[in-house]
Amino acid sequence: MPTSILPLVIIMFFILASSPKLVLSSHNFPLAKHKYCNDTCGGITIPFPFGTRPGCYISKEFWVTCNHDPPKIFWWETEIEITKISLDGQMTLLQSIAYDCYNKSGVSSTNSSTWIDLTERYFTVSNTANKFTIVGCDSYSFVSGNRLGRDFTTGCIAMCSSVDDLSAPAWGAARLPFPKMRVEVNSYSQYTNVSDFNTCGYALLLRTLPSAASTPRPHPRPCKRMVLYFHDILYNGYNSHNATSAIVGSPAWGDRVTLAGQNHFGNVVVFDDPITVDNNLHSPAVGRAQGFYLYDKKEIFTAWVGFSFVFNSTQHKGSINFAGADPLMNKTREISVIGGTGDFFMTRGVATLMTDAFEGEVYFRLRVDINLYECW
Ligand SMILES: *[C@@H]1O[C@H](CO)[C@@H](O)[C@H](O)[C@H]1NC(C)=O
Ligand SMILES: *[C@@H]1O[C@H](CO)[C@@H](O)[C@H](O)[C@H]1NC(C)=O
Ligand SMILES: *[C@@H]1O[C@H](CO)[C@@H](O)[C@H](O)[C@H]1NC(C)=O
Ligand SMILES: *[C@@H]1O[C@H](CO)[C@@H](O)[C@H](O)[C@H]1NC(C)=O
Ligand SMILES: *[C@@H]1O[C@H](CO)[C@@H](O)[C@H](O)[C@H]1NC(C)=O
Ligand SMILES: *[C@@H]1O[C@H](CO)[C@@H](O)[C@H](O)[C@H]1NC(C)=O
Ligand SMILES: *[C@@H]1O[C@H](CO)[C@@H](O)[C@H](O)[C@H]1NC(C)=O
Repeated sequence: MPTSILPLVIIMFFILASSPKLVLSSHNFPLAKHKYCNDTCGGITIPFPFGTRPGCYISKEFWVTCNHDPPKIFWWETEIEITKISLDGQMTLLQSIAYDCYNKSGVSSTNSSTWIDLTERYFTVSNTANKFTIVGCDSYSFVSGNRLGRDFTTGCIAMCSSVDDLSAPAWGAARLPFPKMRVEVNSYSQYTNVSDFNTCGYALLLRTLPSAASTPRPHPRPCKRMVLYFHDILYNGYNSHNATSAIVGSPAWGDRVTLAGQNHFGNVVVFDDPITVDNNLHSPAVGRAQGFYLYDKKEIFTAWVGFSFVFNSTQHKGSINFAGADPLMNKTREISVIGGTGDFFMTRGVATLMTDAFEGEVYFRLRVDINLYECW
């Protein structure tokens, strides 16, 4: 990799409201400043407390310049370019990448570390919005910082033997927000073992996400979807050979053969029902739905359900656990998928239940549309 390429790194900063004079919120970031204050530079807004000249910024720490062609915002008179200042107290800067290069005999050719020093009072590198990343196959890199007068160093290592593995996974940044930091990169064997494909190491802070406040949470998409049916045949005193469920609890005015009056309030039913992939009771079962439902309201027909789908088929091994309120009168009801085992290890999601068919109070069939949002 040629070292002349210096792609720029994005770093985000918090503005700390550490001064009573500077309680920062979007309410007191007026965009309208004195007429002679420029509000924008190269299309980028410069909100108060930032400004390009005295009377426009609140204090010298918030001074930015806009005297380049084409217009760009720079931090004071430094080479650090600002690409965004947002009203929620973050700004985005460009910063060069740290690198360390050797020729094929392992003799140091070029190297550079990056250094940034912010005034400790108002600014700090965001520890949530940045990721420290290293690229190289014989590289180690460290970030050293200073916060509140205390020094610390943290770092990471990348060793590999193939060009495909050049980039180590982005790595969580240092734990503390820090206003001063240095990024350095170095090597163990001067790339002599990997010089066929790699003679440089790079280290950088990458912006990860905009702050949660400024972006709406993305609408989640399911990682897995399945539609299954289960069939419940309630014991009614005559069908013990094919019943798959039984009333095990009943209020004082009922019994355990017929569901009680008043919308079955107080009945608890335990079931071990076959699960099929289509709506035919006689299709081969792919697992069992095991659990209970209890009727929990006198005035309307509604239940609470807790059950597991226990799979033991060639397609699936393991279980999915469900729990939640089941307002039976509604055509479709959503219940929580609260966990799983085996193929469904630690899964979570939502299942939509629909009563697909029922025959008196003996047989019903539920269609279960399972949408998993966490898959491992
Ligand atoms: C404000 O912007 C105008 C035009 O973009 C420029 O001529 C002027 O020098 C700027 N003033 C300051 C104080 O930066
Ligand atoms: C590496 O640099 C050293 C010192 O400049 C030189 O002697 C050597 O020949 C170079 N090796 C290669 C492979 O270019
Ligand atoms: C950086 O380069 C200089 C000059 O080429 C060299 O003396 C120094 O050892 C290098 N630093 C590292 C960390 O390799
Ligand atoms: C490079 O190769 C030498 C000799 O094969 C080996 O001793 C050394 O550990 C290797 N270094 C790295 C960083 O893999
Ligand atoms: C249960 O068995 C009885 C008697 O064999 C039969 O009439 C009934 O249809 C069966 N119920 C179901 C749901 O298969
Ligand atoms: C799963 O199926 C296999 C083969 O049909 C059987 O040996 C095993 O006992 C079953 N396990 C469970 C928990 O039902
Ligand atoms: C069920 O239906 C009732 C009346 O139609 C409605 O008020 C209620 O919000 C529905 N509940 C759910 C969980 O969909």
